[in-house]
Amino acid sequence: MESGLSEAVTAVIHSETTVPDMTLIDPTVMDPARVEFLAARDGRPDAGGTNEHEAKPLAAGDSVSARGLFKSFGAKRVLEGLDFFAPAGEFLAVVGRSGCGKSTLLRLLAGLDVPDAGRISFGDRSVAPGQSGARIMFQEARLLPWATVLDNVEIGLSAARGTPDTQKLALDALTAVGLADRAGEWPSVLSGGQKQRVALARALVSRPRFLALDEPLGALDALTRIEMQHLLDAVWQRERFTAVLVTHDVAEAVTLADRIVVLDDGAVAQGIHVTLPRPRQRGSAKFGLLEECILRYLLRS
Ligand SMILES: Nc1ncnc2c1ncn2[C@@H]1O[C@H](COP(=O)(O)OP(=O)(O)O)[C@@H](O)[C@H]1O
Ligand SMILES: [Mg+2]
Repeated sequence: MESGLSEAVTAVIHSETTVPDMTLIDPTVMDPARVEFLAARDGRPDAGGTNEHEAKPLAAGDSVSARGLFKSFGAKRVLEGLDFFAPAGEFLAVVGRSGCGKSTLLRLLAGLDVPDAGRISFGDRSVAPGQSGARIMFQEARLLPWATVLDNVEIGLSAARGTPDTQKLALDALTAVGLADRAGEWPSVLSGGQKQRVALARALVSRPRFLALDEPLGALDALTRIEMQHLLDAVWQRERFTAVLVTHDVAEAVTLADRIVVLDDGAVAQGIHVTLPRPRQRGSAKFGLLEECILRYLLRS
């Protein structure tokens, strides 16, 4: 008997021919101990998943841990004792209804805001989120219009800029996103997708251990979005930073994430371990079932 979203999803992933009864999905809130369990299991270097990438050594990324996070804006309580864990080098997606606190959580993790209570830590380094070297990408590229594409990327380096070394690092980052030939141009001549690729290069140029992504592909057309998902997947597989992607697009979460967490009522309601092999095939039956499981959970009233 399937008792929760996570179990139903596991059944989908491991079933070759049978389709689990979706009505069995139980929207019971997952308790923090279970989140811990999933996190610990996922974080094992030899976690016996079916993904090829899971067998590789763990990453340059930092694990990201949050315990008992509370955050309110005035009388509005957004996060209420949220526990969260992303193992080093994991690609984690956060989904949930609009206004449930996804961006708030991401801003706290990236050090752009501080919680009212609770603790955030990175790897075994007891650094505050603001000092973690985290980078964040938003829906808008936020490029400086008066700076060239190359200079916009170089801005992502916190060290001194404008040296041959830093220009080379920026050019390497642009090459990684396929835009080296646009280095000398102004942002205004780029398409929306190209601007986001520059923003990705700017985020990556410092080789961050943690990358926070707040709906970075949300404003792109469908085809560009899919291309960008492939790029993000490839870049993440190469660099192995820890990634936390907030998205309202469940298919995007299934395409990119090792694990998907669902936020609800100010806390992590569910955690789903995605073991489909990469690159993920949108047209596959398991992909579709997994997407539907999560969508049904989100749409339950
Ligand atoms: N700086 C802020 N001041 C006041 N209210 C805020 C602020 N940031 C977020 N909120 C509120 O907190 C709730 C969660 O917002 P947010 O984290 O942006 O949601 P999501 O990203 O899941 O759509 C919303 O009700 C939003 O209006
Ligand atoms: Mg948001």
